[in-house]
Amino acid sequence: MKIGVLGAGSMGSGIAQVAAQSGHNVVLFDTNAAQLEKAHASLAKVMARLVEKGKLDEHESETIQERIAYISDMNGFTGCGLVIEAIIENIDIKKSVFSQLESIVDEDCILASNTSSLSIASIAAACKMAERVIGIHFFNPAPLMPLVEIIPAVQTSEATTKTARDLIDSWKKVTVLTKDTPGFIVNRVARPFYGEALKIYEEGVADFATIDWAMTELGGFRMGPFTLMDYIGNDINYTVTETVFTAFYFDPRYRPSFTQKRHSEAGWFGRKSGRGYYNYAEGVELPAPTKDEKIGNDILNRILVLLMNEAVDAVFLTIATPKEVDLAMTKGVNYPKGLLAWGNEMGWSNVLNALDQLHAEYGDDRYRASVLMRRMVKAGENFVF
Ligand SMILES: NC(=O)c1ccc[n+]([C@@H]2O[C@H](COP(=O)([O-])OP(=O)(O)OC[C@H]3O[C@@H](n4cnc5c(N)ncnc54)[C@H](O)[C@@H]3O)[C@@H](O)[C@H]2O)c1
Repeated sequence: MKIGVLGAGSMGSGIAQVAAQSGHNVVLFDTNAAQLEKAHASLAKVMARLVEKGKLDEHESETIQERIAYISDMNGFTGCGLVIEAIIENIDIKKSVFSQLESIVDEDCILASNTSSLSIASIAAACKMAERVIGIHFFNPAPLMPLVEIIPAVQTSEATTKTARDLIDSWKKVTVLTKDTPGFIVNRVARPFYGEALKIYEEGVADFATIDWAMTELGGFRMGPFTLMDYIGNDINYTVTETVFTAFYFDPRYRPSFTQKRHSEAGWFGRKSGRGYYNYAEGVELPAPTKDEKIGNDILNRILVLLMNEAVDAVFLTIATPKEVDLAMTKGVNYPKGLLAWGNEMGWSNVLNALDQLHAEYGDDRYRASVLMRRMVKAGENFVF
């Protein structure tokens, strides 16, 4: 099947590589010629590295590169069985591009969006055949991260969902089916990893380095929240938080933080600007954490029970199955354990107690426990996968 990718930025070029490595002929389109050249050159580099490491031979590397055509005319999408869009995160632009795309592609072509935060239903509404539109959400970097969220909109046909999922499975990705709700699975469940870390900092409990130490050394997370936000970019992470907060009708669980807003306003985006929560200038040493295990464990537990609460609530609201929620967090953002399996181990009555204590102390609905957790504790149940 010929695959189209619309937008040759970080995500689009990664998705094109995955499709080409899976044996497809790919057409990669961008309105910006310089971006197409950049994508071409960066794929050549990646392939050379894979050959160096012995993961591919020269012939395979050449074949993969020859499978991708870099195009600046959308008519090149004719004959595609699937086109995945990965352009700027703007609903009006995406809608207009989808409507234009539909006038070019064949009738049986599936149209997918890689959006992180926009509603698939609203994108599908821009098309005459809305039933062929679906969300296919890769994680960054697409060639390395195994997870792909498959998001049918209310309009999407079952046949579209099945074909899309079977295809992405055949690319050796781990697919999870999720509802078309803000943040899908990963960007919804992960909110407290950032939001509660920021709140803990704002309350003066600990500094950035100590919170990061607690989550990595004591919790086993690959990166601490502040290191991760500096890596993602505070501008992007703040915007996602604000979008999710607004989309959830201002639920206090997703309330953004002034600390992050100010860092973003100051231009302290993180690694890409040389300064974020940490200073990345040459020769500047990163601050050392205060390795107090009592404080560290309190920080870890507070963030962890909120993450678990989000995971349980996603199951309660049938956003995804327990198995898929755990897969999403381990395969999409490298969590050391699935949050539901982790909660089973910790004991849901302990998790619920911790949440109820926070709720009583703060009087803030941010800490309200999911109804499903309360019911499970009452029945003495654990998640079964
Ligand atoms: N970066 C991430 O971590 C990440 C992860 C998952 C999903 N996403 C989503 O993927 C999409 C792309 O993100 P990105 O980080 O690759 O962005 P990016 O800025 O790196 O790339 C976007 C590309 O789209 C091109 N473009 C913009 N408008 C266009 C148009 N009208 N027609 C054709 N090309 C156009 C730009 O020239 C650019 O090359 C967004 O919807 C984003 O939410 C991003």
